[in-house]
Amino acid sequence: MNTLPVNVTGKKILLIGGAGFIGHNLALELKRQGADVTVADGFRVNSLLNLATESDETKDVGVYQDFLNERLSLLRAAKIKLSILDASSRYAIAKTLDQGFDVVYLLAAVSHASRSNSQPVSAIDNGLIPFVNVITELSTKPETRLVYLSSSTVYGNFTKDSVDETDTCRPFGMYALLKHVGERILDETAQHTDLNFSVVRPSALYGERCISRRVSQIFLENAFAGRELVFLGDQDEKLDFTYIQDLIQGLMLAGLHPNARGEIFNITFGNAQRVLKLTEILKDYFPNIEVKVKERNQATPLRGTLLNDKARNLIGFEPQWPLEEGYRNYITWYIQRSKDHNMIFNTITQTNE
Ligand SMILES: NC(=O)c1ccc[n+]([C@@H]2O[C@H](COP(=O)([O-])OP(=O)(O)OC[C@H]3O[C@@H](n4cnc5c(N)ncnc54)[C@H](O)[C@@H]3O)[C@@H](O)[C@H]2O)c1
Repeated sequence: MNTLPVNVTGKKILLIGGAGFIGHNLALELKRQGADVTVADGFRVNSLLNLATESDETKDVGVYQDFLNERLSLLRAAKIKLSILDASSRYAIAKTLDQGFDVVYLLAAVSHASRSNSQPVSAIDNGLIPFVNVITELSTKPETRLVYLSSSTVYGNFTKDSVDETDTCRPFGMYALLKHVGERILDETAQHTDLNFSVVRPSALYGERCISRRVSQIFLENAFAGRELVFLGDQDEKLDFTYIQDLIQGLMLAGLHPNARGEIFNITFGNAQRVLKLTEILKDYFPNIEVKVKERNQATPLRGTLLNDKARNLIGFEPQWPLEEGYRNYITWYIQRSKDHNMIFNTITQTNE
């Protein structure tokens, strides 16, 4: 990823919610390319503190604590600055942002549709409130680019195979609603202030050290454990699976490319695949897996391809990882890791997100 049309060397970059799945991978790549990176995180949501304090029986807590510790070890080894920040605190955000940054990535959120819907107040506390705190500070700091992490769910149920950024959004559920409200507020605020922002809509991410248990991860872990794979969705349902490395490329462009200012981008691989394609790839590694499809039970909308032409044309985004290759990388990482780490999955959950 060295030939990006932007140069991150020496740029001062803050990742709020940066110890999460996307954040730590992004921080490592930014640092590798010479940026001055700070990760700030509350560690409370989908993170170390809540794994330590909540008895979540849907998770293999031991394995995931290991993934989370590995994230921190990698960040420390890369000499990335780490700080504890509650982004819901207006004061803490003001103090942090006063340090002056070239780019701020706002990643903090309750990053699951199902959990945001069932715990709406927590979703507001950790998503909307941090968002308001951040734009309040940055609306007078045009030298700082804010990159806001939105979601493919803002489109609602797709009524055609593919969508682009000009299509109408029909979000439903707390998660999609908050993401969409954020986008609209950014647009309105920027019309009357100096706010410098760009919005990224990722889709169906997968990759190393994720603990979010989306379909690609649950299928893999159940295959690993020799269990039946049950998909609570439609037989031909498709998702625009995007490998974390492609998203990172897009996030760097959204943060630093002059053309990204004020724009919304689908940052996806851009070619939706059947969800059950995952099971076909898995069969090359776990030939005996059995797959069942049951009645759809999803917190997320029916989706398809999020076209990425705008990002390609305006900021030079070039995704590199088709599902066939990215998912194999991800599977291989699990297999390799199991040689010297605990990778025993006790919990049986099936995919509903
Ligand atoms: N992973 C995906 O598939 C995906 C897809 C689309 C959009 N997104 C969005 O991208 C962002 C990052 O996603 P992720 O997968 O890395 O999620 P994640 O849950 O792994 O990381 C989110 C991080 O934010 C931190 N956080 C939450 N509330 C906080 C608060 N009040 N103060 C400080 N830190 C706080 C958490 O501790 C966690 O480390 C989220 O906004 C998510 O909604 C993710």
